[in-house]
Amino acid sequence: MQDLENCLNHDKASAELKSVVTTLIDVTKEIAFAVRQGALAGVLGSAQVENVQGETQKKLDVIANDLLKSALSENSCVRALASEEEEHVVALHQSGKYIVAFDPLDGSSNIDINGQIGTIFTIYPALENVAADSPAQFFQLGKNQLCAGYVLYGASTLLVLTSGGPTRCFTLDPHSNEWVLTNAQLQVPQNTQEFSINMANQRFWSDNFKRYVADLLLGETGVRGKRFNMRWNAAMVGDVHRVLTRGGIFMYPNDNRNPRQPAKLRLLYEANPMALLIENAGGKACSEAMNKIQRILEITPESLHQRVSVVLGSANEVDICNTYLFKRDQQAEPVLIENDEAY
Ligand code: F6P
Repeated sequence: MQDLENCLNHDKASAELKSVVTTLIDVTKEIAFAVRQGALAGVLGSAQVENVQGETQKKLDVIANDLLKSALSENSCVRALASEEEEHVVALHQSGKYIVAFDPLDGSSNIDINGQIGTIFTIYPALENVAADSPAQFFQLGKNQLCAGYVLYGASTLLVLTSGGPTRCFTLDPHSNEWVLTNAQLQVPQNTQEFSINMANQRFWSDNFKRYVADLLLGETGVRGKRFNMRWNAAMVGDVHRVLTRGGIFMYPNDNRNPRQPAKLRLLYEANPMALLIENAGGKACSEAMNKIQRILEITPESLHQRVSVVLGSANEVDICNTYLFKRDQQAEPVLIENDEAY
């Protein structure tokens, strides 16, 4: 904890903010333990209920949500919480200075296959003139986040956190059960040759997006003049962690599978925290909506479980992707970035 406390002090986090961060990450140790136990603790498989998003909840989704909710309820600094697994805002302490949003277990489809999963969280200041149980508490721009992070339950248990300063990585020491700082400043390389997308959705993308990915696939024989590799974890935490570690571009674009729901990822507890972590590590994070490309951190939320398209990662590659998306109805001419070098 010493390392983490030093980092939060360095970023000038208040005592109350530190207590909320501590509450959150202490719970993730319990979740990590349940994940490690797996079938031995009977936590795998479905809970046989649907969440607000119409997705069948896994037992671990429910366990992680209940653990976080109950720990945060006991912290008087928390005014309200929002969770992927809760339809409505949960009001907590009227005098609390902060609101917390989280995805208790991201990448649930990986639970039963022993793949990467994680908890994503974000903390905002509570709004004084808004009721604690109002969703409007959470309709703040992503750039107002005071702290954002995720815990990745992988081969090691990792905490990646930013609280205004750099994006840092801590590893959970299995002997002491303490977080140890293992990377004081993650830095996303500007250029990349690795992309991350669910290619099975290709036929549902816009023509411009199809063109961008087609040029990646052409490799050294195409306009990009270099070969790209592809990776897809089906858990945003795993994919974003790879991007933070060695660069890359992660994309979940709009598609036309369901016209009422063109995007998949949730703004509040997926896109915004990841965007802050990526930007504070030197990368970029954008979203495309209504012929406009926006910095994710500047999107005004309109509903608690709002979904947005996401393109994030190595800054030059995000810029190149955006040049394809920019002219939605025309044959977009990719503007190549001068220092788009193979690495
Ligand atoms: O939003 C949940 C999530 O599991 C993300 O973590 C991940 O990036 C995405 O959905 C995977 O989507 P798909 O099942 O379409 O590959």
